[in-house]
Amino acid sequence: MIFKKHRLLVFLGLILIILASACSNEAKVEPKKTDEVKLTTDENKVYIGFVLDTLQQERWYKDKELFEEKITELGGNVKTLAANGSESVQLAQAKLLIEEGVDVLVVVPYNADAAAEIVELAHKANTKVISYDRLIKNADVDYYISFDNLKVGELQANEVLKHTTNGNFAYIGGAETDNNAVLFREGAMKVLQPQIDQGKINLVYDKYTDNWDPAIAEKNMLEALEQTSGEIDAVISANDGNAGGVVKALATNGLDGNIPVSGQDAELDAVKRIVAGKQTMTVYKPINLLAETAAEMAMKVAQNEEIETNNAVNNGKIDVPSYLLEPETVTKENIDSTIIKDNYLTQEEIYGN
Ligand code: GAL
Repeated sequence: MIFKKHRLLVFLGLILIILASACSNEAKVEPKKTDEVKLTTDENKVYIGFVLDTLQQERWYKDKELFEEKITELGGNVKTLAANGSESVQLAQAKLLIEEGVDVLVVVPYNADAAAEIVELAHKANTKVISYDRLIKNADVDYYISFDNLKVGELQANEVLKHTTNGNFAYIGGAETDNNAVLFREGAMKVLQPQIDQGKINLVYDKYTDNWDPAIAEKNMLEALEQTSGEIDAVISANDGNAGGVVKALATNGLDGNIPVSGQDAELDAVKRIVAGKQTMTVYKPINLLAETAAEMAMKVAQNEEIETNNAVNNGKIDVPSYLLEPETVTKENIDSTIIKDNYLTQEEIYGN
């Protein structure tokens, strides 16, 4: 009997242990939520949402890290989500952060027009929106912070014209969904147009690159070479990713290093191509300045403090209060006094010594 009794007790004891461990596993799963709960329910702390289009290009990692660091340093909480070049994913990510109660949403729009819906949803939840690096079009955006993107295009064309002022030019643009790509092209054309009007330059190829995809840029450059039987004298490429594809295509015609090619973003591979003479220039945009100024702006917006602006950019609906930073041309001659001086890239990384 006693054993029977014991058996029963033993059995009951076993049930209890199983139940207890099940509870503790749930607890284990929970801690992440708990963290989030702690994050989002920390009423006193400002909560900032950062929605990126992509992490495809090197620079966006810098933007993410530097922005998050600065928000944390300023006493806020931040969550970053990247949409991998998808409009619908970006909308869903923005909705999620709005539902989580972010005070301010900082957006790098995948599609300048489609992102207007994000602004509408955010405003319905009393959440302010800052357009980061790229402008959201046709919406009541609260603030816009970026570089002077028209000037980026001007710098690219001006540097290429130092190498050749006539002949067949190809324009390999960015993603047409990105308002910056439209501005880069506008800036470059502003510089080239007089030469085109005088018949010195023939714009033999002019195409945007879907999703800023380097493989598509390469394919387009091969198409331009085919259409002109290899008679290309210069290429204005809107960013370094595209320039990498362009140089690969030029190499198939033995033209790499023989004709000027522009870029943007001071990517490591691009700077190495400049040192090797395969690319002419890149446009350097100090991302630390952009990310840190944007973080300060986001924290101030969340706390209804006064916001410093130095411009107002029309987005098709309103003149958006804006803060624009200066881009800079980088060639073989000033890599040390720009990118290396700012520790954007190191001597070691670029020259390997
Ligand atoms: C642009 C950005 C560039 C470039 C490109 C591709 O909007 O200003 O720096 O990286 O997107 O992501």
